[in-house]
Amino acid sequence: MRLDKFICKSTELCKDAATQCIHAGKVSVNGEVVTNESVQVHENNTVLLNGDRLKARDFRYLLLHKPINTVCSNIDEAYPSLFNYLQVERVSELHIAGRLDADTTGLVLITDDGRWSFDITRPCNGCRKVYRVGLSKALSHEQAEAVAERFLEGIKLQGETQLTLPAMLEVIAPNEVRLTITEGKFHQVKRMFAAVQNRVAWLHREQIGDVCLDVESEQWRYLTQKEVASFHKYPN
Ligand code: URA
Repeated sequence: MRLDKFICKSTELCKDAATQCIHAGKVSVNGEVVTNESVQVHENNTVLLNGDRLKARDFRYLLLHKPINTVCSNIDEAYPSLFNYLQVERVSELHIAGRLDADTTGLVLITDDGRWSFDITRPCNGCRKVYRVGLSKALSHEQAEAVAERFLEGIKLQGETQLTLPAMLEVIAPNEVRLTITEGKFHQVKRMFAAVQNRVAWLHREQIGDVCLDVESEQWRYLTQKEVASFHKYPN
């Protein structure tokens, strides 16, 4: 990670203050004074600020049950930010691994570990996201089979050149299905159903990878170490 970020993560300094310390020659990395804030450092490096060794705080990994009419942004927009539900320090350092639309509810993963969230959201890593979907048009058995087949083969979404990756459809009721996808294109689920002449009436994310939503709406918890590590099986 960048030296200025490392200092922010190991002290109470903001980015500007960290940069000032670096420019003032107060920071050394492995015994050498470093005045460039963009130099990359990692845990094994000895980083001193005014002679004191710095140790970056551990990364944080949380899950939150997103209620309807909230936004996955750090600032309130047309709707309040879902970060308002987190009673943790330094909320501004956190970001979401795979955003949901304002009108979508369910599982959101939140972290300050950019590498970890990158692994989850990269489509080529094949990390599955499971959605329960309410449809405005009920599907007959035959229609559901046809849609499932098209989703499995991949469909062309409006404005895209490539087909969607294979997705799995499971029927729960004539107008309720479970859809598993491994990518996260903009409004992907809604656009997939629009492509088969249907409309998503409501959308709820139940699962990402092996992590299932198990808290009530508006509630959050830290992930277990096992859950955090479970995403490492999605290779580059
Ligand atoms: N697909 C959508 O269309 N919306 C979401 O919020 C998530 C997936």
